[in-house]
Amino acid sequence: MKLAVIGTGYVGLTTGVCLAEIGHTVICVDNDIQKISSLKKNKIPIYEPDLEELLKKNVKNKHLSFSTSIKEAVKKSEVIFICVGTPPREDGSADLSYIETVASEIARDMDGYRLIVDKSTVPVETGEKVEMTIKRNLKKNLPFDVASNPEFLREGSAVYDTFNPDRVVIGVSSKKAENILREIYKPLNSKIVVTDIKSAEIIKHASNSFLATKISFINAVSNICERCGADVEKVAEGMGFDKRIGKTFLNAGIGFGGFCFPKDLEAFLWISQKLGYQFDLLKNVKEINENQKKNFIKKIEDTLWVMKGKTIGILGLAFKPNTDDMRFAPSIDIINKLQAEGAKIKAYDPKAVEKAKEILKNIIYCKNPYEVAKNSDCLVILTEWDEIRKIDLRKIKKLLKHPIIIDGRNIFEPTEMEKLGFIYKSMGR
Ligand code: UDX
Repeated sequence: MKLAVIGTGYVGLTTGVCLAEIGHTVICVDNDIQKISSLKKNKIPIYEPDLEELLKKNVKNKHLSFSTSIKEAVKKSEVIFICVGTPPREDGSADLSYIETVASEIARDMDGYRLIVDKSTVPVETGEKVEMTIKRNLKKNLPFDVASNPEFLREGSAVYDTFNPDRVVIGVSSKKAENILREIYKPLNSKIVVTDIKSAEIIKHASNSFLATKISFINAVSNICERCGADVEKVAEGMGFDKRIGKTFLNAGIGFGGFCFPKDLEAFLWISQKLGYQFDLLKNVKEINENQKKNFIKKIEDTLWVMKGKTIGILGLAFKPNTDDMRFAPSIDIINKLQAEGAKIKAYDPKAVEKAKEILKNIIYCKNPYEVAKNSDCLVILTEWDEIRKIDLRKIKKLLKHPIIIDGRNIFEPTEMEKLGFIYKSMGR
């Protein structure tokens, strides 16, 4: 099918490339001229495994093209996916101005039936507003459908997730729209859940909020474990075998970050309140997440005592492994607080250093974990990159001023670390 994807951020670019790979002809649009010109040169602005190769392949075989013109995309395509940003506003609500602008532009360029699909994460009732905006901006009375098709891909495994979704959710108000979307996703052979538009919108916010709740729950449990000498890793393992609970998203640590969970949690809280429901559970989820960073800083303070003048080596800056994304990374608050207390910071991350440099100042950025360890008073682990899991601990011990590791992601075994002679502190054990 002939498809257009408006917005070439994480979701838009991955969606465009993957839809091209499964056989559709896709035109990806962005109003950022520089971004489009670099995409035309096969360069992607983010680190995402496999994405650049697939992009090159599909540009070469003419399944994929890029443009700055919504007009061109609307003329050439039957289905238009809206994948623009919905950034958080001061009050926690989602800023939907990009969605409105794109919807009205699409309407002005339409010359026949189009299916307009919202993939951006939006609060419930956005579909209605998109429909209203399109109706208001159509030059003449043309048929169209609006649908909601939320995206569940994770950064760092975006391509894999798009090809192997647990489910594809489509929120529609007509059989025609349902059939078109079923046809588009047919090659994935995935479970398809068909709902009304509002339910599909809520599925996205509720899923991310539920996952965030799971993380905050295990982090709360980790606090109990610490107080009584139990091991949260064992507790999570024992809980996770229960299929109703599941093993994933039970890793205790310094809490969730990234552009989705914090923002979607806020937005879901905001829309619940607007609809007259106080979703206090989510407020608590947020609070537990903030407190995890404070608990972690306290561990560093308790271990190092006076912070002023100490050198702290940081391993991992990105909000999670396999991404260079620094948005809402726990490392930002943690490093800012350590610096405010007078500590000097050395840091290493396999991919996120360039993006970190824009946000975190007065840091000595190192080329590898060993350079970070050299003459540092302690080592602090903030992201569980594979490369960091595999560091040569004996070498690290020799390089550190004192053999102290404070691990915010529980990547090492406490007994092993003790055997190696480290003062090792982790979360909830
Ligand atoms: C998330 C959702 O998983 C995805 O479905 C949605 O579309 C976008 O938001 P993403 O933000 O890329 O994806 O990362 P994810 O892997 O879900 O991790 C989010 C945060 O939770 C990270 O900071 C991670 O470190 C943290 N996390 C995750 C934990 O602290 N413990 C866990 O057990 C799992």
